[in-house]
Amino acid sequence: MRHQVVIIGGGPSGLLLSLLLRRKGVDAVVLEQRTRAYVLARIRAGVLEQGLCDLLREAGIGKRLNAEGFVHGGTLLAAHGKQVHIDFKALTGNSVTIYGQTEVTRDLYDELDRTDAPIYHEAEGVEIHGADSDAPYVTFTHGGTSHRIDCDYIAGCDGFHGVSRRTIPETTRRDYEHIYPFGWLGILSETRPLQHELVYAGSDRGFALCSMRNAHLSRHYLQVPLTDKPDDWSDDAFWAELRRRLPAGLAESLETGPSIEKSIAPLRSFISEPMSWGRLYLAGDAAHIVPPTGAKGLNLAASDVYYLSRALIAHYAGDDDHLTSYSATALARVWKASRFSWAMTRMLHVFPDEGEFLRRMQGAEMDYLAGSQAAQTALAENYVGLPY
Ligand code: FAD
Ligand code: DHB
Repeated sequence: MRHQVVIIGGGPSGLLLSLLLRRKGVDAVVLEQRTRAYVLARIRAGVLEQGLCDLLREAGIGKRLNAEGFVHGGTLLAAHGKQVHIDFKALTGNSVTIYGQTEVTRDLYDELDRTDAPIYHEAEGVEIHGADSDAPYVTFTHGGTSHRIDCDYIAGCDGFHGVSRRTIPETTRRDYEHIYPFGWLGILSETRPLQHELVYAGSDRGFALCSMRNAHLSRHYLQVPLTDKPDDWSDDAFWAELRRRLPAGLAESLETGPSIEKSIAPLRSFISEPMSWGRLYLAGDAAHIVPPTGAKGLNLAASDVYYLSRALIAHYAGDDDHLTSYSATALARVWKASRFSWAMTRMLHVFPDEGEFLRRMQGAEMDYLAGSQAAQTALAENYVGLPY
């Protein structure tokens, strides 16, 4: 079997890359180790930057996003006794859109199906061969049969635990990592969102975030110790703790109800350099992870896919410049978004091993933000997404 590009991983990065390439006549196959139902059931991100929305529209799947996405022109930060509304629209002229990763993935699958794009689900034992040669190929097992696909390029879109990054020799690769001493407990509930915009709350008891998926579906998060398990938290305990972490005026209006999903995610910052090796190119979580504060994970995956699709399309039109510069171009944006996610995490969480000095610094930062339009603009321009 032969395809121009083999994409490993059928999460948002791999599916979007496949669709953008197909639109320009580049032939790509996707290998995904899980079932489609499993991929579609993963509840993750919900805040889309303008750049990602534009990319989805360019890929021809903007219809449902335009009809069902909620445009948010701002957000509220509440911490250290201050409430600061960041008006994205007024400060940057830009906004973000609330539209779940599950919906993005569904739209991508529907469109790929419509165009008969090749996707192997439950592809087992995927291995990359000869990525540093002119004749790379990928082997895997599907339905008990062994397969080999020869190709020009391999796109590693297989997330943090995938095989692609680990194929790059350790002598070439450098990983940068920071682990945070807490996780986020998230629940999804069929309740009214707290406000019409997101609320980021930093209390002495820890961080809380009130987000949403639509007018009847809320997504809320609590900072919890890494040792906690979702089963340790009854719904009642979750709501009671969320109330305690919100400013009194807001806590009163919180609508509660049974959770329909509950999970804990650890927080880490991770960046692997370079993002390419020979004919292998990494995109999305395969190359980097950000802590969720500020909602950058999916959006960074999208900017990688933008740069990589542009580079591969240009290659087949006879221009290799973008392929050569892909890693450096993508990493420049990755480091800046990672800095923002790290800074937001640092500003709003309680760090159990750090003392009163950090708490006072966080208070000073909120105070500065409250009184400085320049500081608010800096936050807003990062939140809505730096330009591609
Ligand atoms: P993934 O979504 O991880 O997709 C990779 C795909 O590759 C998966 O489908 C996987 O099954 C497949 N795969 C893995 N290994 C192999 C293999 N060997 N062979 C074949 N296929 C393989 N971001 C936000 O912006 N906001 C959030 O609230 C948020 N919450 C998150 C919560 C959790 C629990 C996690 C894990 C992430 C969260 N993120 C969030 C991050 C965001 O979801 C990711 O950045 C985004 O999914 C990245 O997309 P991706 O396609 O690069 O990777
Ligand atoms: C969501 C997650 C985030 O990390 C964030 O900063 C905002 C929203 C969400 O899942 O809705």
